[in-house]
Amino acid sequence: MDRLKGKTAVITGGTTGLGFETARQFLAEGARAIITGQNRERLASAANQLGSVAIPVHADVRSLSDLTSLSDRVQEEFGRLDILFVNAGIGSFAPLEAIDEKFYNDQFDINVKGAFFTVQKLAGLLNEGASIILNASAVHEKGMAMGSVYFASKAAVRSLARTFAAELASRGIRVNTISPGLVPTAFQSKMGLSPEVMNEFATYVIKTAPLGRLGKPEEIASTVVFLASHESSYVSAADFVVDGGFMNV
Ligand SMILES: NC(=O)c1ccc[n+]([C@@H]2O[C@H](COP(=O)([O-])OP(=O)(O)OC[C@H]3O[C@@H](n4cnc5c(N)ncnc54)[C@H](OP(=O)(O)O)[C@@H]3O)[C@@H](O)[C@H]2O)c1
Repeated sequence: MDRLKGKTAVITGGTTGLGFETARQFLAEGARAIITGQNRERLASAANQLGSVAIPVHADVRSLSDLTSLSDRVQEEFGRLDILFVNAGIGSFAPLEAIDEKFYNDQFDINVKGAFFTVQKLAGLLNEGASIILNASAVHEKGMAMGSVYFASKAAVRSLARTFAAELASRGIRVNTISPGLVPTAFQSKMGLSPEVMNEFATYVIKTAPLGRLGKPEEIASTVVFLASHESSYVSAADFVVDGGFMNV
């Protein structure tokens, strides 16, 4: 408790899943937090569940004008920012021959362009000693059938974090990625895979990962809390793979 007392935080994609659970843990640790999302209903519902300490801001990460408005709102509410969790993302799977331009653009626009301009638009508000955490994925170093666009987008997120860490270090800002393994959230229902294929993949992960199970949102969020807090003061440009060991055995 109180590990983030007095800190100000923004969590993009804080309406459901990993972003929502991270917002819950940030608030429990004493931070004030803005959560964002592009779906107004889910945004209102998340804010309702988190209570009045969470500030919902509608912002589609694909829109530079939404991100500029987000930056204005952060300044208005908090003045300065200590923690930025760049979490908003989507993932779609399809075989090479079935992928069209929209499929490609949707994922790169949200996962890569969205992450890049979120950091660019909010960087000016970050305090010395601030922490940026980007949500990549354990798959960012992997190849797997049907994952080409999503995996490449997450490799790009990992790459952005390395350069941001180098570029913002002179201001005492740390930048790291978290790379979750398979964690059941609303994410899987939006991937374009049938429940059978999804179950097959989950079974494979459970069999392969040394910890023998899927992850829980709380386990990702608690690692993000660590990276946001002073406990990780000597950690930058690092990647935290939280996947039960799946990718590294
Ligand atoms: N769950 C996993 O197994 C897993 C594994 C590795 C990495 N990840 C990464 O973790 C992150 C969160 O995923 P999740 O599992 O928590 O999925 P989720 O429950 O579907 O959450 C995705 C979040 O991103 C937001 N979002 C999507 N498109 C957006 C846009 N254009 N503008 C603003 N916000 C947008 C959604 O907001 P709306 O509600 O407004 O749509 C939602 O809050 C993603 O970056 C994903 O790649 C997840």
